[in-house]
Amino acid sequence: MIMSPETPAGDIVTAPPVYELSHVGKTYARNRVIALQDVSFTLRKGSFSSVIGSSGCGKSTLLKIMAGLIPPSTGRVVLQHKPVTGTRRDIGMMFQQATLFPWHTTIENIVLPIKIRDGRAAGQKAKFKARELLEIVGLKGFEDVYPNELSGGMAQRASICRMLITEPAVLLLDEPFSALDELSRDMMNMELQRICSTQNATAFLVTHSIQEAVILSDHVYVMAPRPGRLAEIVTIDLPRPRTLDMMTTPQFGAQVDYIRGLLDKGADL
Ligand SMILES: Nc1ncnc2c1ncn2[C@@H]1O[C@H](COP(=O)(O)OP(=O)(O)OP(=O)(O)O)[C@@H](O)[C@H]1O
Ligand SMILES: [Mg+2]
Repeated sequence: MIMSPETPAGDIVTAPPVYELSHVGKTYARNRVIALQDVSFTLRKGSFSSVIGSSGCGKSTLLKIMAGLIPPSTGRVVLQHKPVTGTRRDIGMMFQQATLFPWHTTIENIVLPIKIRDGRAAGQKAKFKARELLEIVGLKGFEDVYPNELSGGMAQRASICRMLITEPAVLLLDEPFSALDELSRDMMNMELQRICSTQNATAFLVTHSIQEAVILSDHVYVMAPRPGRLAEIVTIDLPRPRTLDMMTTPQFGAQVDYIRGLLDKGADL
């Protein structure tokens, strides 16, 4: 289903499922910590979801399981009808710190996933697309510089291009912009929204910011700690496309207050 920019959040209910998690749990063997308990949900094509919860409630653990980086102790994760048993080409991931290789230029970093997957010639060919992506994120002219010449925000934008070059169906984002100042972060979030809606990508974002979760998401997954579990899925019914000035509206404020209330209740959830 191609979503028009004006598609209301409710319409994604009819989109096909992309991720299906059933009764996912994780106990780390080393310390017997129950990081996740009985987490079940479905993410639909083209939806944007955020997960929020106190430090240590299992957000990164959940993302790593969804990415196939670590196995769950219980339950099942299915992506595009196939069980997730390891890392996959249809998954794009991005972490808090940009992980560009300092000895490669920006454009070489971006085409690296293609080069590794399909060989040197394919990597060379992918430079055309890499240039397009760099232009989209405002990095035209920085193709041939090394990462130490980029600011934190620029490096994260280059990381977005590297994530997108393989055209993943799903984007898993673990606090990707938390190292940025507030202004750059707001701009990156709007950029992320635009990229996701253009590509009809399904996104799942870990964040500590309630505002960020509400302005970007169709659904906010609120987690509770000890043991880490899903407390509530809050539907955000603000119209799309979202704009930064929506953050001053009463509807936005009400959604933020509601989620803050859930988080304040914390372990009682
Ligand atoms: N590799 C590991 N081995 C053992 N325990 C771990 C491991 N990774 C995480 N944990 C434990 O699992 C729990 C959940 O950790 P996780 O990193 O998923 O939390 P988080 O919600 O992402 O926290 P934060 O908001 O601080 O990033 C914590 O109690 C943590 O100590
Ligand atoms: Mg984390």
